[in-house]
Amino acid sequence: MKKEGIILIKNGTIVRFNESLKADILIEAGKIAKIQTQIDDFEAFKVIDASGKYVFAGGIDPHVHLDLPTPAGNSSDNFESGSKAAVFGGTTTVIDFVTPFRNQNLIEALNLRKADAKNCYTDFSFHVSPIGWNEDTENQIIKCIKEEGISSFKVYMAYDIGLDDYELVKVMNAVGKQNGLVTVHAENGKVIEFLRQKSVLEGNTSPKYHALTRPVALEEEAINRAIEIAKLTDCKLYVVHVSSAKGMLRIEKAQREELPIYAETCPHYLLLDESLYNQEFKKSAKYVLSPPLRTLSDQEKLWASLSIHTIQSIGTDHCPFNLKGQKDAGIHDFTKIPNGAGGIEYRLSLLYTYGVLTGKITMNQFVGLVSTLPARIFGLGRQKGDLKIGLDADVVIWNPDTEKIISLENQHQNCDSNIYEGLKIKGVAETVLLRGELIIENEQLVSQPCGIFLKRGLGN
Ligand code: URP
Ligand code: ZN
Ligand code: ZN
Repeated sequence: MKKEGIILIKNGTIVRFNESLKADILIEAGKIAKIQTQIDDFEAFKVIDASGKYVFAGGIDPHVHLDLPTPAGNSSDNFESGSKAAVFGGTTTVIDFVTPFRNQNLIEALNLRKADAKNCYTDFSFHVSPIGWNEDTENQIIKCIKEEGISSFKVYMAYDIGLDDYELVKVMNAVGKQNGLVTVHAENGKVIEFLRQKSVLEGNTSPKYHALTRPVALEEEAINRAIEIAKLTDCKLYVVHVSSAKGMLRIEKAQREELPIYAETCPHYLLLDESLYNQEFKKSAKYVLSPPLRTLSDQEKLWASLSIHTIQSIGTDHCPFNLKGQKDAGIHDFTKIPNGAGGIEYRLSLLYTYGVLTGKITMNQFVGLVSTLPARIFGLGRQKGDLKIGLDADVVIWNPDTEKIISLENQHQNCDSNIYEGLKIKGVAETVLLRGELIIENEQLVSQPCGIFLKRGLGN
């Protein structure tokens, strides 16, 4: 008898981080129920033929800023539009951020942020950001971990929400004691501020000065400082959006000492370079993001680090702003351009096209980087990030033959520009399931938003 909710995916090549196999997958009640060669379809309500396709666990983007409030208005994708773009790209879980107001209770800020995340097509969680330190911050961190399912805390070493070293060591000490994880935006914000002011005073106000005032040395220095503080406090550390070879070398040195230090990079640091700033404002403002784009040799190092697993995770840092009405606030002064760009839809396609198809990484490494390893690092491994019996049936059926050119016309993100415009991709998420629900079928959206908040554990 056909039973609703039972889906059978037949004839695909299943790709996991540690193996690839030809097998069928039976999904029941939103979970993976069976993985076996030749499963009979007599009970399945729906059978999907995945011949010639790859089948792997839904992507987990551990770094997105949807509906991020800034002085230039909120980032242009809210949870609904941004998560829609995510599922078109094969991402079924996103981790966004909770940034409290000064002295706001972290739990109160978390609850308000959860309300922002309505109508989400993906499952979601948050990294919570202590932006200062007071006598109750440690309590709030403990509550986040023990009661709220928040096991990672984001600290900034730049921007006006950046922590000084005293606050940094306090946060890492508190999180480390609970065996939680600190994620860090590592740039020396104070020195950058000095360089920015100097640049504007000297009349150097175009977008290329955004890059020139955020040199690699200030990323490298901050990464090194964060590592040293993490070491002293016995705190697990995840360095977000690593952009430079020198920064990576610091991380790799710490990893060789067997410290629990993880690294993330983003597709834009792998594929775009600093020469893009040498264009008129209209063309270069979209690349104003932090850290800035670097050199071709930095790209080479980042690709190499992916292949040897010293970078364990790919996040998009999705944070788009429209050129008109947002980025153009900085037409006469790059310091007024809101930092960030979109990319949530392209993480898998770009890494597949420019990583797997070029032989820089294997298909199994690809699955590890976009799904399995972020799941494990951020405490979702018992639920997501792999195709294993009992895990959520978040499944991507990947057509390796479909080719596209990224353009404003075919994008799903809500933004009037696209940093990847014109890039060719080969390989798309053809069908996507979230907890056994069909979300994308043959590249068409077939569901309403049904994402839920995920409580995360302390690793794995
Ligand atoms: O430029 C960026 N990356 N904007 C988003 C905020 C951040 O620094 O991650
Ligand atoms: Zn950042
Ligand atoms: Zn970010």
